[in-house]
Amino acid sequence: MSTKQSQAPKYALPPAVDLPDRQWPSRTLDKSPLWCSVDLRDGNQALPNPLSPDQKLEYFELLCRIGFKNIEVAFPSASRDDFEFTRRLIEEKRIPSDVFIMGLTQCRTHLIDRTFEAFQGIERGIAHLYLATSELHMRQVFDLDRKRTLETAVKSVEQARRLADAMPESDIRLEFSPEEFTDTDPEFAVEVCEAVFNAWGKASAEKPLIFNLPATVERRPPNQAADLIEWFGRKFSHRDKVLISVHCHNDQGMAVASTELCLLAGADRVEGTLFGHGERTGNVDLVTVACNLFSRGIDTSLDFSNLSEVAETVERLTGMPIYYRQPYAGEYVFTAFSGSHQDAINKGMHRLPEAPEKFGLGWRVPYLHVDPADLGRQYQSLIRINSQSGKGGVAWVLEQDYGLEIPKAMQPELGTAVQRLSDRVGREVTSAELHKVFEDEFLNPDGPYELVGYWPRPDDSDPTQIHGEIRIRVDGEEKTVTADGNGPVSAFVHAVRALGAPEFSIDDYHEQAIGKGAEARAMAYVPLKQSGGKVVFGVGSDTNIDQAAVRAIVSGLNRMAKKE
Ligand code: KIV
Ligand code: ZN
Repeated sequence: MSTKQSQAPKYALPPAVDLPDRQWPSRTLDKSPLWCSVDLRDGNQALPNPLSPDQKLEYFELLCRIGFKNIEVAFPSASRDDFEFTRRLIEEKRIPSDVFIMGLTQCRTHLIDRTFEAFQGIERGIAHLYLATSELHMRQVFDLDRKRTLETAVKSVEQARRLADAMPESDIRLEFSPEEFTDTDPEFAVEVCEAVFNAWGKASAEKPLIFNLPATVERRPPNQAADLIEWFGRKFSHRDKVLISVHCHNDQGMAVASTELCLLAGADRVEGTLFGHGERTGNVDLVTVACNLFSRGIDTSLDFSNLSEVAETVERLTGMPIYYRQPYAGEYVFTAFSGSHQDAINKGMHRLPEAPEKFGLGWRVPYLHVDPADLGRQYQSLIRINSQSGKGGVAWVLEQDYGLEIPKAMQPELGTAVQRLSDRVGREVTSAELHKVFEDEFLNPDGPYELVGYWPRPDDSDPTQIHGEIRIRVDGEEKTVTADGNGPVSAFVHAVRALGAPEFSIDDYHEQAIGKGAEARAMAYVPLKQSGGKVVFGVGSDTNIDQAAVRAIVSGLNRMAKKE
């Protein structure tokens, strides 16, 4: 791909600001920024089917529940719907007392008038004025020079000030965006912002003016964006009376990184949208930025503890699906397909209680940097089974979904059985299908032996002796055998031997209870060791633990017969 045209190069890295003593690279983010949602404006204007007024209201209420305190609700002068939506929020008193809604307007007299008309009766609001300050826009779009641009900014802010002063009952703040800030000569951006600050004339630490410095189009790498923010913060003369806000678009796929570096560089506030809706490749995804900070122990004051519900609502309202691998919200975020990952997650989850002592943190699990439960997501969906999956993952799903504690030594046999199924179907295997493999292969396998009943009876004089009687069908023919042992299981093993079943021994086996009280069932997982040392597992289930063990032996015998 050629990047050159005849004389001038077609593309180049934009010139960087001169900041040799930059501080941001050695800083660590330790507190949350202020958050501003522009979903209902920047996000909405870029939807193939913009939201209806009722959908906007539902979205607005969602944003309030999540905890946004600055919400850009409309471009009131741009359309009747936007104007009326702003009025509806105010007239129906739908704005929580700690929320500032925002209305965007260009720096044009009649549009500013209309914006303030929409704000009449508001308790608190932010008038957001924007004006392009880049040479590209000034020369190619507006035919304006710097002087005229500066004058327009000042005239517009003075108008906004007059209109705000005429509403003494309302707390009206100003936000000003030099559009295409990251493509603007930074000296000129500061000059415009100084003039805006003076024209507004009433910014204070308590009621700061917001300078939103947008990467309207992401044209620079994140380090250059951060340099610009640190540089602006040093140059601007009333830093304590303004908030520096960033508004990163994602044209080069680095909006989250740019935002984080800009925060290190001193930005106080972040504008963006849920899941990154917005013009072209979108605005920065606030869910990712906020959850990143959360994953580093920072309290963001945004509530994503039910992220799936947030995602479903946004998908439904916008009509746009969230990508499977979208950080935090995507379907596959807490899914491991590969066997080694599944195994590691399985081990990590079981050893999680040791994490605080070993690592000084409550959450340390391989391949999962956050606890899915913190986002309202389920452990059940952690592991999906396909032909790449391993034994650990299979055992994990059976434990999570069915409470089965598959012994470690049995997991390879089970894994092989599941692998056979997944190779055959050529797709992901569901949890129910896994369970069926377990039942068909281990709990009720076909074979020559069918237990009719087993009666272990204690000896009248020796309490350590059991007399066992088995009724069993072998290849359909019912037989009765008796044998003794020092326990119900050993008496059963002796009786089975008398039947002429293949040689095996049992060293040890695993039992568990499933369910509680009258509903409880015992599960027994019994390894039958054949004379050559090969082990075949059988599983039995019954309300009585000894009966479960003997059923497991019968299952093991059937499996041995099948293998032979
Ligand atoms: O991206 C942008 O520059 C904007 C402004 C209106 C703030 O959305
Ligand atoms: Zn934008």
